[in-house]
Amino acid sequence: MKEIAIEDLTLNPFTVFGRDWMALAVGNEQDGCNAMTVSWGQLGALWERSSHSNRLPTAVCYVRPSRYTKAWMEREKMFTLCHFDGSHKKALSYLGSHSGRDGDKLAAAGLTPVFEFGTVYPAEADLVFICHKLYSQDLEDACFADREIVDFNYPERDFHTMYIGEIVKVLKREENSNGR
Ligand SMILES: Cc1cc2nc3c(=O)[nH]c(=O)nc-3n(C[C@H](O)[C@H](O)[C@H](O)COP(=O)(O)O)c2cc1C
Repeated sequence: MKEIAIEDLTLNPFTVFGRDWMALAVGNEQDGCNAMTVSWGQLGALWERSSHSNRLPTAVCYVRPSRYTKAWMEREKMFTLCHFDGSHKKALSYLGSHSGRDGDKLAAAGLTPVFEFGTVYPAEADLVFICHKLYSQDLEDACFADREIVDFNYPERDFHTMYIGEIVKVLKREENSNGR
């Protein structure tokens, strides 16, 4: 994988989550890791820092309380959002339909964890956003302005937790590369 400047990205933020899906990976070399599929999320600009000359590049993802990944997201300071080319859709389906509580999902999905930059990502990804957790909050029933969204998405009121991460690095698979 090669680090690229965020300005050089050409992806479509709508299709990258909604159509292609992403893997949300979280963990560290000592404790291991977990990953799950996410198709709800945003990429954009939010907040500023004295050390950063521009608005911070940020990624947002949403994790339901029932996910094993949720405990990892609470513990870890970093997470990654990982995009794959179409040939890995089966692996993403696996990550999105099995729980890490029941075993090593990455291995079962044929993915290889790379522990780097204080976090983890699958070597097979073609694009990785390395994120530093900035903010998390449970979505709240009373805050929904449109009740249809609540009734349609949360019949059991199991609201997602929203995680906003600063994108500190973007890694891109190099052409003709099979691994890192
Ligand atoms: C296409 C797809 C998209 C998904 N998007 C999300 C999402 O954005 N947020 C979420 O909490 N779960 C989402 N899920 C469900 C989790 O990926 C799934 O429950 C997973 O098995 C959780 O794994 P875990 O228990 O190891 O964390 C999605 C599943 C699929 C198949």
